[in-house]
Amino acid sequence: MTSPNLPAELKAALDGKLRGFSRSDAASRSATISKAYRDGGNSGAIRSEADALAYALARMPATYAAVVASLNALVEIRPDFAPISLLDIGAGPGTATWAAAEVFLSLKDFTLLDANDALRALALDLARDSTRLGNIGYERGEARAALAKADAADLIVASYMIGEIGDAEQRALAELMWEKTADTLLIVEPGTPAGYARIIALRGQLIAIGAHVAAPCPHDGKCPLRPPDWCHFTQRLQRSRAHKQVKGAELPFEDEKFAYVALTRAAVARRPSRVLAQPAVSIEITAKLCTPAGLAVTKVPRRAKAEYAAARRWRWGDAVMEES
Ligand SMILES: C[S@@+](CC[C@H](N)C(=O)[O-])C[C@H]1O[C@@H](n2cnc3c(N)ncnc32)[C@H](O)[C@@H]1O
Repeated sequence: MTSPNLPAELKAALDGKLRGFSRSDAASRSATISKAYRDGGNSGAIRSEADALAYALARMPATYAAVVASLNALVEIRPDFAPISLLDIGAGPGTATWAAAEVFLSLKDFTLLDANDALRALALDLARDSTRLGNIGYERGEARAALAKADAADLIVASYMIGEIGDAEQRALAELMWEKTADTLLIVEPGTPAGYARIIALRGQLIAIGAHVAAPCPHDGKCPLRPPDWCHFTQRLQRSRAHKQVKGAELPFEDEKFAYVALTRAAVARRPSRVLAQPAVSIEITAKLCTPAGLAVTKVPRRAKAEYAAARRWRWGDAVMEES
C-alpha cells in the first residue's frame, strides 16, 4: 500500500517554491480560490504563479491522498496491473501523476493535459528535478481537444476535474477518455453527493459501452444506494507546517472525503464486497457492505471468534472477501 502523504521529492520541490513566498499571502489567495469553488466556480480563479502555488499548498496533499487511496484499492483488486503509460486529464499541478508514479513503478510515459497556464507552469517546475518525472509531457489546452490528439494510455486519470465542466461536456469527455483507455480509467471526485452523482452518471454511461468496474463496486449493476445516502470514502493525511499555515488549521492531519470509480476493459475475476462506512464495534460488529448481490448490513457476533477477529480489522473503504 502506498502512503497517502506527499512523497519526499514533491514535498522538497514545494518547500523550495515556498522560499520567499509569504504564508499570509498564500493563505489569503487560497481562501479566495476556495471561496470561488464553494460559490460554484472553478479553477478559473487560479490566474498567477502565486495563485497556483497557494492552491497546490492548500489542496495538493488532499487530492494526492484521494488518488493514492483510489489507486491502492485498484491494486488490491488487480495486483498484476503494471501500466507503462499515463494520461492525466485536468492535471493541474500534476497531483495524480505524482500519485500514479508512486503507486506504479512500471510507469514510464507521463502525459498531462490542462487548460490552466499557471498550474501547468507550476507542475513543470515541481517535476523538473524529479528522477521519474523530469521528462513529463504537459499539453496545454482544453481537455477534449488536447485528448483527441493524444495517444491511448494504459492508465487514464481524471482527478477532481469533471466537476469543472458542464453535463454534456462531461459525457463527451468521458466517452473520449474511454476511447483512449488501453486498460484502466480512474475518475476521482470530491466525496459529496454531487461528486458521487457525477461518478455514477459516468459509470453508467461507460458500462453501457463495455466498461467493467474494478473498484470500488463489486458489480457492474446499478448502484444500490438511494438518496440521501451516497457512496464515498475518506482518507486521512498528515498536514505539514506550511499546509496548516495556508489553511489556518491547528490539527496535524485532515480527512479527505472522496468518491471514485476505476473502470477496466477486461472484466475483473475477483470482486470482493466493499465496506461503505466505518463498522460499529460492540458485542457484535455491524458493517454496511456493498456486495455482488447488493447492499447488506452484516452483523458478526463476538461468539464467532475467527470471523469477529477478521471483521474487527475492517475499515471504511476496505475490500472484504467474506460476506460473513
Ligand atoms: C480542481 S483542479 C484538479 C487538479 C488535479 N487533477 C488535482 O487532482 O489536484 C481541476 C483542473 O482541471 C482543469 N480543467 C478544468 N476544465 C478543463 C478543461 N475543459 N480542459 C482542460 N483542463 C480543465 C483545471 O484547469 C484544473 O487544473
